[in-house]
Amino acid sequence: MKLNAAVLGATGMVGQRFVKMLSESNWFEVECISASKRTAGTRYRDNALGFEYSDDILDMTIEDTTKNILKDHDIDIAFSAIPADIAGKVEADLAEKVAVATNSAAHRMDDDVPLLIPEVNPDHLGLIDVQRKKGWEGSLVTNPNCSTIVMVLSLKPLYDAFGIKDIKVATMQAVSGAGFTGVSSMGILDNVIPYIGNEEHKMQTEPKKLLGSLEGGKIIDASFNVTALCTRVPVIDGHTESIFVELESDPTADEFTEALRTFKGLPQELNLPSAPKNPIEIRPVPQPRMHRDLGNGMAVTAGRIEKVAPNKFKYVVMGHNTIRGAVGASILNAELMAEKKYL
Ligand SMILES: NC(=O)c1ccc[n+]([C@@H]2O[C@H](COP(=O)([O-])OP(=O)(O)OC[C@H]3O[C@@H](n4cnc5c(N)ncnc54)[C@H](OP(=O)(O)O)[C@@H]3O)[C@@H](O)[C@H]2O)c1
Repeated sequence: MKLNAAVLGATGMVGQRFVKMLSESNWFEVECISASKRTAGTRYRDNALGFEYSDDILDMTIEDTTKNILKDHDIDIAFSAIPADIAGKVEADLAEKVAVATNSAAHRMDDDVPLLIPEVNPDHLGLIDVQRKKGWEGSLVTNPNCSTIVMVLSLKPLYDAFGIKDIKVATMQAVSGAGFTGVSSMGILDNVIPYIGNEEHKMQTEPKKLLGSLEGGKIIDASFNVTALCTRVPVIDGHTESIFVELESDPTADEFTEALRTFKGLPQELNLPSAPKNPIEIRPVPQPRMHRDLGNGMAVTAGRIEKVAPNKFKYVVMGHNTIRGAVGASILNAELMAEKKYL
């Protein structure tokens, strides 16, 4: 039997893709869609521009996210794609009763909230047991910032095989990462903007939690440093990142590449529906238009790998920001939650 899903922020860049991917899933059924007061009460067909949907979906009425959607809907899990400033309260209120899988940054760094990439830190789901101790019947699980997910997927096999001392990263991020109203066309066409509000802070803090260890109900952060410089570029989908990593040990370039190429995680072992066969694809020159759809958008692509000094490498990694970096990430989190009987 399918699990009933709500999509919060269903009219946005991420929310529209949520509705599309969930409506095609064998595990979830779209039971409720919500957005702001501005669109609440209207039909989805008058607001959804991005994808082809069934008439059943297009005929759904949009709810007001800030009202109690549980009153009229039987929900197993709410997928959230709402701005962080309202997500704080909305998601915590819902999590008292049902599971919430969110893209927003509001609760990512909370001590008892898993910041999850199923291939990287599936054991952090254990924090749900800490949430249950404070009386929640539901749960709250977050996925990282879109550029962080792409980078950390590539760091995980390096961290496990060679240890990591230091990371420096410069990003080239797609415009879809800023949402529908994020960047104006006059701002981004024929231009590069080397500033994305608060993005560098997220890239510098989230990887330490993701690669940290769960001990006694708490995450102990990983000890490496991350320095990030984030740039918006005129690409529609796909974040590209130039990474300079210093390792604890000194592999050859072939050993480095093999660690990336052969990497598999728990989702691959469990054969979860959204899991790509290879989380990391290797290509000589990763590019958004060529490679963002590999693994149905759930694989990241690494290349340009070069050893620059003992223990030091540079490489490029690229991934689909609204699939691997957002919607697909949340759905994979939910599939793991279901598999681990948290749903
Ligand atoms: N875009 C990405 O690649 C990406 C990746 C990872 C994480 N995220 C995160 O995902 C969330 C959504 O991002 P997005 O890019 O989809 O943004 P977006 O295109 O601007 O969509 C925002 C959604 O939130 C709704 N909303 C706005 N203000 C609201 C309010 N006061 N109350 C209730 N609903 C409200 C909007 O509804 P209306 O249509 O009614 O205004 C819309 O459905 C953000 O937290 C973002 O940081 C985005």
